[in-house]
Amino acid sequence: MESHLRGQLWHASGGLVYHGRAWRYRNTLWAPFLQQVESWLEAWAPRPKQLLIVGPSAGYTLPAQWLSRFARIDILEPDPLARWLLEQRFPDCVFHAGDLDCFALDEGPMQLAHAYPHSAILFSNVIGQIFEGGPTPIWRAALQMAMRGRCWASYHDIASCHILPARRQVVTLPACSRLEDILPHFWDGREIAVYDHGCLDLADAQCAYGMWSITPRQHHIVGWCSNTEG
Ligand SMILES: C[S@@+](CC[C@H](N)C(=O)[O-])C[C@H]1O[C@@H](n2cnc3c(N)ncnc32)[C@H](O)[C@@H]1O
Repeated sequence: MESHLRGQLWHASGGLVYHGRAWRYRNTLWAPFLQQVESWLEAWAPRPKQLLIVGPSAGYTLPAQWLSRFARIDILEPDPLARWLLEQRFPDCVFHAGDLDCFALDEGPMQLAHAYPHSAILFSNVIGQIFEGGPTPIWRAALQMAMRGRCWASYHDIASCHILPARRQVVTLPACSRLEDILPHFWDGREIAVYDHGCLDLADAQCAYGMWSITPRQHHIVGWCSNTEG
């Protein structure tokens, strides 16, 4: 049995609020993070000519030139406005929208891998936003199993808070790092309360961490992990 995406304009992680923020900050506050995502994507360099993007929204964090290297792009995105904006923002790309909800069931990652056997898979800042407190251990294990030998990557929220970070440089740390190891790289060892998005150890390889200030009062550590096999 598969679970299907239902159209939604008000999802907490996307929808109208997110489009408004993108419209306001994309060229200013977001610019350093967008550059960072571009360099992560360029370094990933997937071999497959087909790409599946999970949670693209309108592709605010995705570079047009990088997308243009793919012969086919599939997307899984429940927000109909986001899908329409995606087409307007990237007129040179054709996006094929699917309706598999890979987060709804424990077997979602397996269903995803089977539905798109020849595609590189990009989780585009979505895993840290879907599950309250992070993916369940079962879903996480299913993801690792489903992505074994596949070309895939994810950038996802790790921790967020309202306090302005002291530093914004990207750091690369081993897979077993704890939040206490990561926070001092951005907040200088100060005692701060953060919301833990529960996405540490999503992959069993090292992870890079960057800072995304989504608004002047909302700052997210975003993790990047990738695999080029497959
Ligand atoms: C923070 S936004 C992603 C940002 C986006 N990648 C960008 O470049 O601007 C998270 C997106 O995930 C989408 N989403 C929510 N539930 C989803 C699901 N079950 N499958 C795929 N995408 C989902 C939301 O509609 C939203 O557009």
